[in-house]
Amino acid sequence: MTAATSPRFVTLEGLEGAGKSTAMAFVRDWFEARGETVLCTREPGGTPLAEELRAVLKAVREEPVAASTELLLMFAARAQHVERVIRPALAAGKVVVCDRFTDSTRAYQGAGRGLSMATIDQLAEVAHAGCDPGLTLWLDVPVALGLERAASREAADRFEQETLDFFERVRDGFEALSEREPARFRRVDATRALDEVRAQIETELEAAHGG
Ligand SMILES: Nc1ncnc2c1ncn2[C@@H]1O[C@H](COP(=O)(O)OP(=O)(O)OP(=O)(O)O)[C@@H](O)[C@H]1O
Ligand SMILES: [Mg+2]
Repeated sequence: MTAATSPRFVTLEGLEGAGKSTAMAFVRDWFEARGETVLCTREPGGTPLAEELRAVLKAVREEPVAASTELLLMFAARAQHVERVIRPALAAGKVVVCDRFTDSTRAYQGAGRGLSMATIDQLAEVAHAGCDPGLTLWLDVPVALGLERAASREAADRFEQETLDFFERVRDGFEALSEREPARFRRVDATRALDEVRAQIETELEAAHGG
């Protein structure tokens, strides 16, 4: 794990429906109230090319997608996003808040699909050396609650069609990350009411950045 993290680069992680997109507004509000310019973005995606790769990754298709193909497409999208959007924004003094990043790859393609964490860390080095989040908020919910929240939206994509076992492994993957990097990777109890989720996120931001 590279030590080159930026405290001005914050990521949101968690299962589908956990509340990542909802929480992004809480993080943005907190920084904006302190006079910061905030760039909110998401993965896979965040540039026109990377959004095309997102559509490729999410499409339900007859051809089985090899786990290694999925992994490389994720990192291809990420490399483009980091070079074109995230690095320039950080260099311009903005705060960057990203909905999913490499921890999702560790949880989904690593813990979920069984790909090697060492390989993922090597690809992270290729795609975004020296550009790692300084704070990651893990919106944690039981699998069933996340899927229930996500189900109220459009038709299930290729990931949302996965088995409950798969999502349990993904959640275990996030748990392992919180044990491996407890200072950066912070668990937020996302089963609670939204005002309580906001309060916990603000506490984490204050601890990381000073009130
Ligand atoms: N703490 C909460 N309590 C009640 N409802 C919530 C909570 N957090 C999120 N929701 C609701 O659950 C749904 C999913 O939330 P959201 O879109 O933020 O999740 P997400 O993690 O971004 O999902 P996805 O991975 O599919 O993008 C939304 O309708 C949102 O309003
Ligand atoms: Mg979302």
